Amino acid sequence: MTIQIKDSSLLKTQAFIDGQWVDGDNGETFAVTDPATGEHLADIASVGAAETRRAIAAAERAMAEWKTLPAKSRSDVLEKWHQLIIENSEDLAIIMTAEQGKTLSESRGEVAYGASFVKWFAEEGKRVYGDIIPTPSDRRGVVVKQPVGVVAAITPWNFPNAMITRKAGPALAVGCAIVLKPAAETPLSALALVELANRAGLPTGLFSVLPGSDAPAIGGEMTANPTVKKVTFTGSTPVGKLLMKQCADSVKRTSMELGGNAPVIIFDDADLDIAVAGALTAKYRNSGQTCICANRLLVQEGIYDAFVEKFSAAVSEFRIGNGFAAETTHGPVITEKAAKEIHSKVENAVAEGATVVIGGQPGEQGACFYQPTVLTDVTDTMRVFREEIFGPVAPVFKFSTEADAVRMANDTEFGLAAYIYTESMGRSWRVSEAIDYGMVGVNETAISSEVIPFGGVKESGQGREGSKYGLDDYLETKYICFGALQR
Ligand code: SIN
Repeated sequence: MTIQIKDSSLLKTQAFIDGQWVDGDNGETFAVTDPATGEHLADIASVGAAETRRAIAAAERAMAEWKTLPAKSRSDVLEKWHQLIIENSEDLAIIMTAEQGKTLSESRGEVAYGASFVKWFAEEGKRVYGDIIPTPSDRRGVVVKQPVGVVAAITPWNFPNAMITRKAGPALAVGCAIVLKPAAETPLSALALVELANRAGLPTGLFSVLPGSDAPAIGGEMTANPTVKKVTFTGSTPVGKLLMKQCADSVKRTSMELGGNAPVIIFDDADLDIAVAGALTAKYRNSGQTCICANRLLVQEGIYDAFVEKFSAAVSEFRIGNGFAAETTHGPVITEKAAKEIHSKVENAVAEGATVVIGGQPGEQGACFYQPTVLTDVTDTMRVFREEIFGPVAPVFKFSTEADAVRMANDTEFGLAAYIYTESMGRSWRVSEAIDYGMVGVNETAISSEVIPFGGVKESGQGREGSKYGLDDYLETKYICFGALQR
């Protein structure tokens, strides 16, 4: 492998099942490439349903003891895992930039973000409280929270580290075991993470990682296997719906963090500089490949021209390129297919009358690059209004009144994140309450952290990750009735 890191034993190409590094049963592999250069990085073992079944059986065995340990003992192992992630953070960041393409500084940020979930849930796992309910007559009701059971997780390529720890952290902290299928584009980050978890002393079989190019085979086993009690997924809405349907047969619990179509609503009374800075971050973080990325900039007519001018001037300063190069501000998108899909949305907008203020073409740096783009004269019939763009394209829509802004913001089946820029306290409350989103940033777009409940409504999903609420997704509520207390 051409990735140069301090500890090359973090570079794994096999699956990790029941505490062993193994090839797939049929010896098949799939290739991982660097989206910036197209360079072949590694061939990774590709597993299927049979290996997934074995990992699930191992998880069940391992969980039998893990769930009975005092929370403090589980916490100690997670603390050690956190420490190892921090100690190896530069290596993890280099692996991430190589396989995902984001800039090295973004990768460093994500590794720290990912580590924060392990630390948070190591602590929070010790605070799983129940209730005592004063029931009628001589009875008492006791409510205890118990681990939901074996968890199956499917994670995306846009955050190859943090989306894993945001699921594995709470699951392990409360006593569950986990089997994980990482995205086929970015398995190296997942394999390095589980290597560190293993070094931290996680019991054998408790955390298996199942790389594979046949997602339906692995996902099909995860959703059909009766031992799995919970499926947690971050990815597209169509795949989330499919997994939910498959989980229905055995009535599994699910957590779904799905697509978004985030509006950034900028009112005439907003502080322009703060709004421009926030919109730039929200739109172009990870080259626009974030579920909570600004998808639609909704700008009130009085501030519209000034906003477009300032925003476009800042975008013209961006330098796209290889994420390892110091001058690069934004890396490639994940695949050539993704770059083509982004371009087809821009072409659709232009065909329907949009004006390209800046960008609007594939990048010249390679097949996976797309120019940071700003579009005006955009309308709600265009694909850039209706669909998740997942690329560095900012359509700037104009609105007149607060009611228009609320209507446009809600005119989507998605409901993950939304952002509002205004200096009016009353308006920020009114609009926050009127828009149907799981998360709202007021004069702020950097809303993510381990301490907040991340998640959406409508077709953006269900469940919350991070924060004290993030534990609930991995816990069952059991009621125990104590009777005959007067005897
Ligand atoms: C995502 O894109 O789903 C994750 C973004 C974040 O955690 O901020």
